[in-house]
Amino acid sequence: MIYSFGSLNMDLVSQVPHLPTPGETLLGTTFTTVPGGKGANQAVAVARLGMAAALIGRVGNDSFGRSLIQSLNAAGVAAEAISLDAQTPTGVALIVVDDAGQNQIVVVPGANGKVGQREVQSLAVRLRAGDGVLLQLEVPWVAVEAVAQFAQAQGATVILDPAPALGPLPAPLLEAVDWLTPNQTEASQLVGFAVTDVASAWVAAQALRQQGPRQVVVKLGQGGSVVATPNGGFHQPAITVPVVDTVAAGDAFNGGLATAWVGGQSPEQAVQWATAVAAYAVTQRGAQASMPTRAQAEALLAQVPQPHPL
Ligand code: RIB
Repeated sequence: MIYSFGSLNMDLVSQVPHLPTPGETLLGTTFTTVPGGKGANQAVAVARLGMAAALIGRVGNDSFGRSLIQSLNAAGVAAEAISLDAQTPTGVALIVVDDAGQNQIVVVPGANGKVGQREVQSLAVRLRAGDGVLLQLEVPWVAVEAVAQFAQAQGATVILDPAPALGPLPAPLLEAVDWLTPNQTEASQLVGFAVTDVASAWVAAQALRQQGPRQVVVKLGQGGSVVATPNGGFHQPAITVPVVDTVAAGDAFNGGLATAWVGGQSPEQAVQWATAVAAYAVTQRGAQASMPTRAQAEALLAQVPQPHPL
């Protein structure tokens, strides 16, 4: 079983010709309201790939919250441990996507910000050795850290996506992590220098591994990913695909990584699989709607290049 412990948001998405600059008013071409939130997206990625997935988080007792739970049920994600908060509205994300598929996101956490002891306990009574736990930073860090430490003690795998980028992470959290998966921006904030290419990502990945995580993947988008493991490192090139919408590509990567790693694959195989899953996601619009089935990811896996040792 793979648990995602994290956020649920209703994504309010506008398509725009280009990303707005400060003070600019833009005319959008479309507006959609779709299920999102990094926690929920990663759980859906796992379920679409055919592995048992559950989400633990919190929504408001409102129409967005009910709709998010319904869509998780429809995607095959166990949603019974999601709490309803009578006082706080469901989280929302205001998203603009430009014609090149790039995005800007403002998250208003709402009920996600109330995740705490109740949700940690929900996870604790369910988790078993050998399970996987997907974590992100859209819910309070204190809860994320408690889950990571509990999961490590139980013999479960902990995969932390340090998103959104919010600066240095507490040492006890990093020490409980099996896989840390920052993107370029997040990695730069975590190490305190600019991560711009494979060489700087490799320095960053090794520096982050020194802080506790057993494996570190620095995601470079179309530049692929750079991976540091206890046995050395490698650069995994990306696949060239037509980019339509990069929202939730990182969530797709983490969901894919979790299914392969918990399924017993090597770091190289797991990162290749995650690369194929993320590549599919950027060819589709939306967050959860862009997650591939196993067959759709397998169709791209053949195009994923071999990794280069570092
Ligand atoms: O990673 C993409 C997600 O970030 C969106 O679905 C949005 O809800 C924000 O959480």
